[in-house]
Amino acid sequence: MSARILDGKAIAARIRAGLAARTATLSFRPGLRVVRVGEDPASGVYVRNKDKAAKEVGFDSATIHLPDSTSEADLLATIAGLNADPAVDGILVQLPLPAHIRTEAAIAAVDPAKDVDGFHPLNAGRLAAGQPGLVPCTPRGVMHILAESGVSLRGARAVVLGRSQIVGRPMAQLLLGADCTVTIAHSRTRDLPAECRRAEILVAAVGRPEMVRGDWIAPGAVVVDVGINRLPDGKLVGDVAFAEASAVAGAITPVPGGVGPMTIACLLENTLDAAVARRG
Ligand code: GUN
Repeated sequence: MSARILDGKAIAARIRAGLAARTATLSFRPGLRVVRVGEDPASGVYVRNKDKAAKEVGFDSATIHLPDSTSEADLLATIAGLNADPAVDGILVQLPLPAHIRTEAAIAAVDPAKDVDGFHPLNAGRLAAGQPGLVPCTPRGVMHILAESGVSLRGARAVVLGRSQIVGRPMAQLLLGADCTVTIAHSRTRDLPAECRRAEILVAAVGRPEMVRGDWIAPGAVVVDVGINRLPDGKLVGDVAFAEASAVAGAITPVPGGVGPMTIACLLENTLDAAVARRG
C-alpha cells in the first residue's frame, strides 16, 4: 500500500486565494507587523516569506528589523507602540530572540487581540479552556490538512509527538476540541513506538530528523509531519522517515510541501481574523 499524499502546498494556495478574495471586499487593509531582532539567518528567510505572503493577499505588511544590541526594554517599547497603533491588527515577534531578551516577556507584551502567533498566555489559556481566541499557526494548519484528509476526528485516537508551546500543546488542545482521544507523547515517554502505533492520527513535532520509523505507524493511519530538519548534505527531511512511513500509512504529509506552507497561510488567516474582530 502507498499512502495518499496530503498536499499542504495546494491547500495553502487555496486558503491564500480565499483570503485575498475576502480582503478585497474589506473597506480597510489588515495590518501586519513582523518584528525581527538580530541576525539569525533562518529568521531572515522566514520573515521575508511572511511579509511577501501578506502583501500578496493585499495586507498592509511591514518588517521591523532591530539590531542585535536592542535591549529588552527597547523591544517592549517597540511592541507597545504597535499595540497602540490603530493601523496594526497583527504583531508577530520572530523567534528565537537574542539570549539577553526574555522570550516570555516579549510574548506577554503583545496585545492578545493582535497576537497572530497565538503564543500569549491569555490565548493559550483560552484554547485550553475551549474558548475562542487566536490559535498558533502551525497547529491551525494541521487541522486544515486533517479536514482535507477526509479522516473523521470524532472519537479518533490521536497521538501528538512533542509537547512544545508552539506546536505540541496547542495541537493536542485543538484535537481534543475536535473530539479526538488525545495522547501527548514526548522524549520521556516510555516506549514511544508503542504509543505511536496506537494512533489513527499521528502528528510528529519533535524536530528530530526521521525519528518516526515505518514500524511506529499503524496500517492506514494519517501521519502529519511538522518537522523541518536540514541534514548535513543540505537535504530537508521531516520527523518521519517518509519512504518507510508512506508504505504503511493511509495518508501522509510530505516535507517539504506539507505542513510548512500551511503555517504562513494560517498566519494570514489569523491576521484577517484579528483585523475583522478589531474593526468589524
Ligand atoms: N520561529 C519559528 N517558528 C516560529 C513561529 O511560528 N512564530 C514565531 N514568531 N517565530 C518562530
